[in-house]
Amino acid sequence: MGWVGKLAPKGTEVIIAIDGPSASGKGTLARALASKLGYHYLDTGSLYRMVGLTVARMAVDPNDEEACAAVAARLDPAFFADTDLRGELVGGYASKVAVLPKVRAALLKLQRDFAVNPPGAVLDGRDIGTVICPQADFKFYITASVEVRAERRHLETPGSDLLAIKADILARDERDANRMVAPLKPAVDAVVIDTSHLSPVDALQKVLTHIHQKG
Ligand code: CDP
Repeated sequence: MGWVGKLAPKGTEVIIAIDGPSASGKGTLARALASKLGYHYLDTGSLYRMVGLTVARMAVDPNDEEACAAVAARLDPAFFADTDLRGELVGGYASKVAVLPKVRAALLKLQRDFAVNPPGAVLDGRDIGTVICPQADFKFYITASVEVRAERRHLETPGSDLLAIKADILARDERDANRMVAPLKPAVDAVVIDTSHLSPVDALQKVLTHIHQKG
């Protein structure tokens, strides 16, 4: 399979790319969409979070590109179930290691291989429609105001401080959008959906309507 790690030849499988900033609702939407369509689902942020968590636990310098890339090349799937994985602290580490080109390169093949997965796959992240799967059949960019996003994270994190969460989200947005490699931005052909005033059910309906109209 000479194409592995490059763009795989596209067969009949459907690829749906869902990108957007932190707590925009993209994860909830992507999971529900995959379940509704009977497609495979990959939360690519978990990969960066696993690298971030390992780096934090092993006291690896998050600026040491070679060391972080070595961690990314040997991810331990057991961390998927780690209760610390979803926290804002690990999110911060994830976005630090995510600026490193060699870390991104180490995670590229895994994501591209996953995408070519009959009958279809939904991947959510920051660069799915722009870098990982520019050939995706459908691309959505999910966003929401920073106030709404901070409030959502606050509600799902017992004992958290709303203002601290808002500051963390803004810092992460800034780092994700301004990095040199695969910055967070909508693909030119992405449908942009603002979920600030949409329920998860309404957001899913909007995406399904678009898929059925175009598909
Ligand atoms: O859950 P949340 O939306 O807050 O973040 P996440 O999707 O779990 O991603 C954590 C961090 O990983 C992000 O802030 C990005 O820096 C990085 N990431 C990325 O660079 N590219 C992706 N495709 C997914 C995540």
